[in-house]
Amino acid sequence: MPFPLPATVFLHPNGEMDGRTRRYQKRFNDLAGLFLDEEAFRTVAAERGDVVAYQVDEYRPSDRAGDVIFGTSTLEPGRIGEEFLFTRGHIHALGDRPEIYLCQSGRGVMLMELEDGTIRAEEMTPGKLVYVAPFWIHRSVNVGDEPLVTLFCYPADAGQDYGIIERAGGMAALIVPDGADGWKQVPNPRYRPRSAAGAA
Ligand SMILES: [Fe+2]
Repeated sequence: MPFPLPATVFLHPNGEMDGRTRRYQKRFNDLAGLFLDEEAFRTVAAERGDVVAYQVDEYRPSDRAGDVIFGTSTLEPGRIGEEFLFTRGHIHALGDRPEIYLCQSGRGVMLMELEDGTIRAEEMTPGKLVYVAPFWIHRSVNVGDEPLVTLFCYPADAGQDYGIIERAGGMAALIVPDGADGWKQVPNPRYRPRSAAGAA
């Protein structure tokens, strides 16, 4: 068979993707250590530890350079202490690989950060597409009251490095309510600049 085969998938409004090659789920218990308010996290985990916090359905034709991986991410609404619920986040292992996220439903923020701590937070509403440029760490945040469903696509050889966030004590900004039904970013008090930590 000399050529890869075309394929189709079907995206349900709730984020489920028929024809996916893989699904992975993160439950609240899997998110231990990511949120500033550890006591609030323990309370949530005690009640909903086995509940799915977010789910990714993807179609991965191959890992070959030049190919693409695409799929959907569905992130539940909620808060842990002051912070809105978010995905673990990562930088691509091949740092120069970009990604796009198209918001399908819900209301979210794409929180992005360069290794030096520079932050960009872009609101996501249905129809809005965020281009996550190369070398930006990225994490989705649900700032609404319904599931945040996004469609993503990125180069198949990109890979993910999750440790870059962990090593810095989280991302430089937290996304919290602004007191007026919206959101704002505030500095993360646990953040350790990567240059000072000697971690890159
Ligand atoms: Fe990514």
